[in-house]
Amino acid sequence: MSQFKTIDDLELSGRRTLVRVDFNVPIRDGKITDNSRIVRVLPTIRDLKAQGAKIVLMAHFGRPKGNVVPEMSLAPVVEGLSDALGGEKVVFANNCIGAEVSTQIDALANGEILLLENLRFHAGEEANDASFAQELAKLGDVYINDAFSAAHRAHASTDGLARLLPAAAGRLMQTELEHLSQALGQPKRPLAALVGGAKVSTKLDLLSNLVGKVDVLVIGGGMANTFLNAQGIEVGRSLCEHEMADTARAILKEAEAQNCKVMLPSDVVVAETLAENVPTSTVETSSVPDNQMILDAGSQTAQEIIAELKNCKTLVWNGPLGCFETEPFDAATNSVAQAAATLTVSEELLTVAGGGDTVAALVHAGADENFSYISTAGGAFLEWLEGKTLPGVKALEDAA
Ligand code: 3PG
Ligand code: MG
Repeated sequence: MSQFKTIDDLELSGRRTLVRVDFNVPIRDGKITDNSRIVRVLPTIRDLKAQGAKIVLMAHFGRPKGNVVPEMSLAPVVEGLSDALGGEKVVFANNCIGAEVSTQIDALANGEILLLENLRFHAGEEANDASFAQELAKLGDVYINDAFSAAHRAHASTDGLARLLPAAAGRLMQTELEHLSQALGQPKRPLAALVGGAKVSTKLDLLSNLVGKVDVLVIGGGMANTFLNAQGIEVGRSLCEHEMADTARAILKEAEAQNCKVMLPSDVVVAETLAENVPTSTVETSSVPDNQMILDAGSQTAQEIIAELKNCKTLVWNGPLGCFETEPFDAATNSVAQAAATLTVSEELLTVAGGGDTVAALVHAGADENFSYISTAGGAFLEWLEGKTLPGVKALEDAA
């Protein structure tokens, strides 16, 4: 578990408190469609209010690459945050640095909240530019990072700034790291990881790290095809990275050396095209027709995975087992997710999941609420599972 200061270690009453949050939320037609990332920061905001801090929230939105892009303004988040706080006043600043922002901060009463405009409107943010970090530092007395989901970025607001002011982790940052280390740091064993998704190439580091840590590795989604094919199984017109065959074989060999049991589909659902309610059939993995593609794991595979999970104490989940957005190719993901949720409720299994499409798949399966922990992070969750050092976490550790 990481060692860093927390809100409890700082004197915050009346102090200008710069809080890095991740409000990179989905917005459609000016409306927030999923406010989880806002809701999950509320414990920090409430604690800061209780301590009488002047709360200055800093965040990014989208990838404007140093330009002022009006569609990527954080202004629509003001209402969403205010609603989440039960109608509390949230002031907005049209910039994230400068004299005007400073005046707005000085005008805050203790416990009041100011949200700054998108940090990425300035190129200095992503460049982790020292003078931009200085400009941010001028606005505050202390710094809190509550953006675990942006901690894989070494940007001015996640790295440089943490080195200029007294720095601590917010409640969400603490919670994320506690749960992730419970899942992979000191897990109750047997420990299983379920890794799905389209491509092996994007999850290579993840798979390589996991085979040395977990007892069971379930591989699903398109990337399973690459593993099957690397073992000489014909996968028809399925998504398959033929150039990754050697890599896939190396991972399987390493898994064997590490005593990690790898589970690949034994049966699969195939169709001619990926579309809603096309004709499908379920076949043994060894008999995929030439003109068909694998779009989901079969029900026998799902049952095998569930049986294995019953013997496990911890599950880390990243990526769906099939093309869950298109019915009926959500079936394997749904049944395994629901079984994992049931085992969680009966306290037989600790379940931790993260990653954008993973959470969407669990919500779709109606299983998310019964998981032990769902991370707010996408890319950062993946990099954490890969065993990488997250710059945003490292900066807090260095400051401790
Ligand atoms: C995310 O949504 O994963 C984080 O906010 C990071 O965003 P980024 O990938 O644009 O850095
Ligand atoms: Mg991302």
